[in-house]
Amino acid sequence: MKATDGSEDAKRRAGESAADRVEDGMVVGLGTGSTTAHAIRTLGDRVEAGLDVRGIPTSYQSRALAREVGIPLVTLEDALPNVAIDGADQFAGAHLVKGGGAAHAREKFVDASADRLLVVADETKRADVLDHPIPVEVLPDAVPVVERAVRAEGGDPTLRSAERKDGPVVTDNGNLVLDCAFGPVEAPADLAATLSATPGCVEHGLFVGLADELHVGGETVTVERV
Ligand code: A5P
Repeated sequence: MKATDGSEDAKRRAGESAADRVEDGMVVGLGTGSTTAHAIRTLGDRVEAGLDVRGIPTSYQSRALAREVGIPLVTLEDALPNVAIDGADQFAGAHLVKGGGAAHAREKFVDASADRLLVVADETKRADVLDHPIPVEVLPDAVPVVERAVRAEGGDPTLRSAERKDGPVVTDNGNLVLDCAFGPVEAPADLAATLSATPGCVEHGLFVGLADELHVGGETVTVERV
């Protein structure tokens, strides 16, 4: 799993807080990453205690963890999520950068299909203006084309390298990831639209206005409606 800055306690508090929002009978989108993993474990404890929920995973990682902790799984063909719980690499109000774990393509359509998205993060992820490099999932043959398009928009793309494997990260969908540094993104909706319209781009990690509630972990946890 990728390294992140926040303390494990802060992430755990955020994850537990969001998992406590889930009610009996709900379908829950299960995001990916180290903070969401705390929420999934807490949900698993609640299922063991009798809570009736069904989960829709967003990655190999969240599917495996949900199975391990006993959360029954369904697909979007069965039901749309009442709520999704997901992490972020950076948040500025309701806008997010995601994809540090290369799961943002599945995360985006699951999160967007939920009635409410609860974002779980520690305080280190907070920003006034998003400036974290934006992960862009790219069809392998399209890398040079997307790199050129990103540079034309003022971005600096870097092909994400794997750790403990030679060569690039390959996503759950069989694609590659360009981490694209744009500096401060003052107009996230415009950049999101440009990236989405780039041929060869499968999905990018700008989640514009998608968050409904932020569960932010620190010494305590704060819940913010956005
Ligand atoms: C997965 O691709 C990402 O979108 C994660 O949700 C995001 O990187 C947050 O992960 P952490 O909670 O591990 O920081």
